[in-house]
Amino acid sequence: MHGSTRDWRSARWLLVGGLVVLLGCDQDPKRIAQPLTKIGGNAAESYANRCAGCHGGDGKGLAGLTPKPQDFTDEAFQAAVTDAEIRKAILGGGGAVGKSVTMPASSDLADKPDVVDGLIAHVRSFRASKPAP
Ligand code: HEC
Repeated sequence: MHGSTRDWRSARWLLVGGLVVLLGCDQDPKRIAQPLTKIGGNAAESYANRCAGCHGGDGKGLAGLTPKPQDFTDEAFQAAVTDAEIRKAILGGGGAVGKSVTMPASSDLADKPDVVDGLIAHVRSFRASKPAP
C-alpha cells in the first residue's frame, strides 16, 4: 500500500517536470530551429524538385509544354552554352539569358553557390547520355 502511494508521488513529479519542460519550450518559439531546406548540395534531389517538372528526369524536356523546355541531351546546346550562362538561367530564369520567361528564376539559390554548381553539373551530366548519331 505504501509502495503504491510513493509510486504515485514520483509519477506526479514526473508530470510536473514534463510540464515545466513543455512550458519552457513554449516561452521562446523563435528559438525553435528553422526547418532546413531539402536543398543542400544534393544536385540530383535539387534537380528533381526544381527542374525535372519541365526538363524531365531524363533531361530531354517534357513534350507538350510550350515553349518546349531546353533538351539537355542536345549536343549542339551543350557545346554552345557556357557554365556561366547556365548559372544565369538558374538564378535569373529564362528571361535572364534571352530565353522564355516561363522558366522561373531560382533567385533563392544566390547564396547557395554549391547547390547551383551541383545543378550545372547535373545539366552537364545529360550530355553523356546522348546516343551516338
Ligand atoms: C516551368 C518550366 C521550367 C522549369 C521549372 C525549369 N525550366 Fe529551364 N527552361 C524552361 C524553358 C521553357 C526554357 C527555354 C526554352 C527556350 O526558350 O528555348 C528553359 C531553358 C533552360 C536552360 C537553357 C538556357 C540557355 O541559355 O539556353 C537551362 C540551362 C535550364 N533551363 C536549366 C534549368 C534548371 C537547372 C532548372 C531547375 C533549377 C530549370 N531549368 C527549371 C523551362 C523550365
